[in-house]
Amino acid sequence: MLKAREAVLSTPSYHPPLSGRVGLRLDFNENTDSCSPRVLRRLQRLGSQDLAKYPEREPVEEITAAFLKVKRNEVLLTNGVDEAIHLLCQTYLDRGDEAIIVVPTYSMYAIYTKAAGGEVIRVRAAEDFSFPLTAVMKAVTSRTRLIALANPNNPTGSVVSNDEMLALAHAAPQAALLVDEAYFEFYGTTILERRREAANVFVARTFSKAYGMAGLRLGVLIGDEEQMRVLRGVSSPYNVNALALACLPEALADQSYVAEYVAEVLEGRQRLEHALKERGVQFWPSRGNFVLMRAGHSKTDAALFSEQMRDEGILVRDRSADEGCEGCVRITIGRREHVTRLLQTLALDQLAGTQGAWRR
Ligand SMILES: Cc1ncc(COP(=O)(O)O)c(C=O)c1O
Repeated sequence: MLKAREAVLSTPSYHPPLSGRVGLRLDFNENTDSCSPRVLRRLQRLGSQDLAKYPEREPVEEITAAFLKVKRNEVLLTNGVDEAIHLLCQTYLDRGDEAIIVVPTYSMYAIYTKAAGGEVIRVRAAEDFSFPLTAVMKAVTSRTRLIALANPNNPTGSVVSNDEMLALAHAAPQAALLVDEAYFEFYGTTILERRREAANVFVARTFSKAYGMAGLRLGVLIGDEEQMRVLRGVSSPYNVNALALACLPEALADQSYVAEYVAEVLEGRQRLEHALKERGVQFWPSRGNFVLMRAGHSKTDAALFSEQMRDEGILVRDRSADEGCEGCVRITIGRREHVTRLLQTLALDQLAGTQGAWRR
C-alpha cells in the first residue's frame, strides 16, 4: 500500500480556522481594509495573454532588490513567507537535524521542520515573552541547522535585538538563521543592513500584512548570494503567479499607502493598549499589528470570549493552545473605524478585574 514518509505522517497537521470567516477579520493579522488602489488598478488591466503565459519572476526580483537596496542575486520572491520557510527546511534539514524555535511562535516553522524529517527544539520564551538568548545559545548543538525567529514575534509581539540575533548567527555558523520580518512595517527596525555580518542570516518579508495582499501570496527571502543560488535551484521557477508579479511593482511604488495604513495601525494599537491598561486587563506590549491579551486563565475562557466576539461580528484568534498563552486571545489592529468598533464591542468591564474567568 502506498504510504507517505514517516516524517510527514508524524507531522501534526495545522488547521487554522479559515472557514466561514464572516465579520470583521481581526484573527489573521491581515490588513483589515485592502491593498493599494494602484494594485487593484493593475489587476483590472490584466488581460488573457497575461494569464496564458508562464510568469517571469526575474524582472520583478530586480525591482524588489532595488527597493530593498540589496543585490539582485540576494533576493528570491516566494509564494508567501510560508514558501520561504519551506524552502529553507528542504535545503538545510537532513533527517534528525535540529531546528530551534522560541515558543510561542508562528506554527509553520515546526510543521515544515518536521515534514522535512528534522527535529524541533522548542525553547520557551521568558515569562514576559522576552527573548531567552542564553537558553537559545545553550540549545545550539552540532546538529542545529536552522534557527527560526519571528521579529516581531507572532503571537506575542515581542522583539529581538539585532545584536542578539547576530551573536546567535555567529554562535551557530552551521545553521541558517531565519529572521522572519513579516511584521517589519509596523516595527520599523530590520536586520537587513547588518545581514552581511554573518553569511548564515536570512531575512523574510511578506506582502500579506501591511501591503494587504495576503490573497495574492507573495513574500521575499533575502540571503547570501551563494546560499540563495542553492535555494533558487530547489524552488519552482513559477512559484509566484503572474497576477502577484504584475502587482508587486505597483505595491512597492505606493509607499504612501503603506505608510498611511501603518500610521493608522500604530495609533489603533495605542488606543487598544491604553484601554486594556486602564481596565487592568493583562496584555503584552506589541510591535506588530496585533495584541495578545488575557481573556481569562483557561482554554474555556478564551474560547468563550472568542465565541462571544464572533456572535458580535468580530473574529479574534484564540491562542490558548500556545505555550504560556492559556486563556489568551490575539487581536489584529486595523483601520481606525475597525479599532473603534472593536473597542465598542470588547466588554472591557467584564474583562476588568476578572482575569480569571470570562463569562457571558
Ligand atoms: C511570523 C509570520 N511569518 C509568516 C507568516 C505568513 O506569511 P505569508 O502570508 O507571507 O505566507 C505569518 C502569518 O501570520 C506570520 O505571522
